[in-house]
Amino acid sequence: MADAEISATLTLSGKTIELPVRSGTIGPDVVDIGKLYAQTGSFTYDPGFTSTASCESKITYIDGDEGVLLYRGYPIEQLAEHGDFLETCYLLYYGELPTPSQRKEFDKNITYHTMVHEQMTRFFQGFRRDAHPMAVMVEVVGAMSAFYHDSTDINDPRQREIASHRMIAKLPTIAAMAYKYHIGQPFVYPQNSLSYAANFLRMCFAVPCEEYVVNPILARAMDRIFILHADHEQNASTSTVRLAGSSGANPFACIAAGIACLWGPAHGGANEAALQMLKEIGDPSKVNDFITKVKDKTSHIRLMGFGHRVYKNYDPRAKIMQKTAHEVLAELGIKDDPLLEVAHELEKAALSDPYFIERKLYPNVDFYSGIILRALGFPTSMFTVLFALARTVGWISQWKEMIEDPSQKIGRPRQLYTGSPRRDYLPLSKRGK
Ligand code: CMC
Repeated sequence: MADAEISATLTLSGKTIELPVRSGTIGPDVVDIGKLYAQTGSFTYDPGFTSTASCESKITYIDGDEGVLLYRGYPIEQLAEHGDFLETCYLLYYGELPTPSQRKEFDKNITYHTMVHEQMTRFFQGFRRDAHPMAVMVEVVGAMSAFYHDSTDINDPRQREIASHRMIAKLPTIAAMAYKYHIGQPFVYPQNSLSYAANFLRMCFAVPCEEYVVNPILARAMDRIFILHADHEQNASTSTVRLAGSSGANPFACIAAGIACLWGPAHGGANEAALQMLKEIGDPSKVNDFITKVKDKTSHIRLMGFGHRVYKNYDPRAKIMQKTAHEVLAELGIKDDPLLEVAHELEKAALSDPYFIERKLYPNVDFYSGIILRALGFPTSMFTVLFALARTVGWISQWKEMIEDPSQKIGRPRQLYTGSPRRDYLPLSKRGK
């Protein structure tokens, strides 16, 4: 909401202008610089958007200093403890927790769409078996635009809703197919009587020649991991989805763009890198040497699963992940997981080291998630795929919010140009040797 009472004064090249300040329901105020260029001829400069709110949103709130994460106002701890993933999807997408009849209807809508067009199954054959499943995800999700033409008109609210349901429903199927293709096993079709997470585990780990019974504790852990990853306001991949969507691109193409962005090791790829790091350290006795290497800037080694652009406190998701890791390992009878021991030792060492304390570096969501996913039976190459699956609802909710915002325009940042000033073309013969 605009607050006419508050404004910021800026003096630039001898000219003073008033910039309106806007307040949200919670969180820092923002200085509205929308008219700055028109009034002064200057741009703002903020690489990495460290001080820039790129949009107005009602979906997710993070207080990075206090370690708070709210989905539509509800604390993540309460949703992870008492809710389930599909309810969280409804909440993020529609704005409220569903009533029993809304929930029933939503479950029906999602399960109705769990299968993919049979022709899509042929797509996978074009990939090498050793292709990274994230490469497959980018392609196959992008290809959904070629299969579901009847839900690509972004100006039709019903088509937007169907495309969103399709993506929430089909991402687990596509992710499981990417995994099955990778390991050379036949695809397992969805079973709609199962919960979202249980169905996904079955599509990944069942084989046609044997009965597969989903362990409810493991399904609950999977569901909780999905809840924890469902949205995280304007992170790199979500901003990518919004930027792609701002041009009017269809939602399947936008989500494919989000998946591509998520793949990077500074973002969703960190869970894979964190587990790799724990494996490389291998033993709690080697933790101190590793910490010394991380602190040596010339090594360019980071403590993966640590640090966050927004959280300058313990990531609330990491606490739930840590608890879930213990539950899963206990259920699977894994008493002394050496990687969990290394993780505990690393966390202890880092949290008492001035390097990490001064920079406010704490465990993030990826620090413990790899231990759980590995125990569930997933190879590291699937970790970011699971993140993408869960984040799809966040991306699509943010995309919908953007499309429905009447003030929405194409995203078009400007730049500080530091290249050559204007110069004249020289023919090749006049350019020296
Ligand atoms: N290990 C060692 N040093 C670190 C780390 C780390 N993990 N993270 C930040 N630093 C240092 C960094 O070197 C810098 O030190 P100095 O001030 O001396 O130059 C200072 O802390 C600030 O770092 P930054 O890179 O300016 O901070 P940022 O906000 O740009 O980066 C981050 C955030 C998440 C990219 C970074 O903390 C990082 O690379 N962490 C490891 C990767 C990771 O776990 N990513 C998952 C993020 S959570 C899931 C998601 O959002 O996808």
